[in-house]
Amino acid sequence: MSDPVHRPDPRENLICRCYQVTEATIRQAIEARNLRTVEAVTARTNAAGGCSSCYDDVQDILDQMHGSTRARRRVSPLTNAQKRTLILALIRDDIRPLFRLNDMDIHVLGVQDDQVFARTEGPLVGTTLPSVLTLKWHLVKMMSEACGQKMQFIEMNMLDRRETTDPN
Ligand code: FES
Repeated sequence: MSDPVHRPDPRENLICRCYQVTEATIRQAIEARNLRTVEAVTARTNAAGGCSSCYDDVQDILDQMHGSTRARRRVSPLTNAQKRTLILALIRDDIRPLFRLNDMDIHVLGVQDDQVFARTEGPLVGTTLPSVLTLKWHLVKMMSEACGQKMQFIEMNMLDRRETTDPN
């Protein structure tokens, strides 16, 4: 009997969009080196070494493989609309000027729980230049502080790119 719950193939399940690291690569690194922390996984695979949006996903894999020792995630009491309003103000006042310094721009498409869907523009989109990764890391940190919970930055351009380059 087939499994009614769809589980993504670890070989194809992209965890870290910044560095294009799949779940399978992360699992192999954890198993081969008995890695115990996200930082150790980053040192081996680069995953979570960019904007940090995938930090919790890497931690989840560690928890699955070693058992969880961490406290439950903090959940913000804010609604999605309230988070969106805070994030839009943050981007207008603090983030967009920094993106513009890198000849980039950002447009929020929506907020769903801890996920912020956005599209970025500019010649450096999709690169892993330290200045761009630092900018994304800063964005995630500021959004998380504003919303009172760890937020994830889902860069739709990277998903589009994956779909157009995926041969399947
Ligand atoms: S998605 Fe993994 S560091 Fe950005």
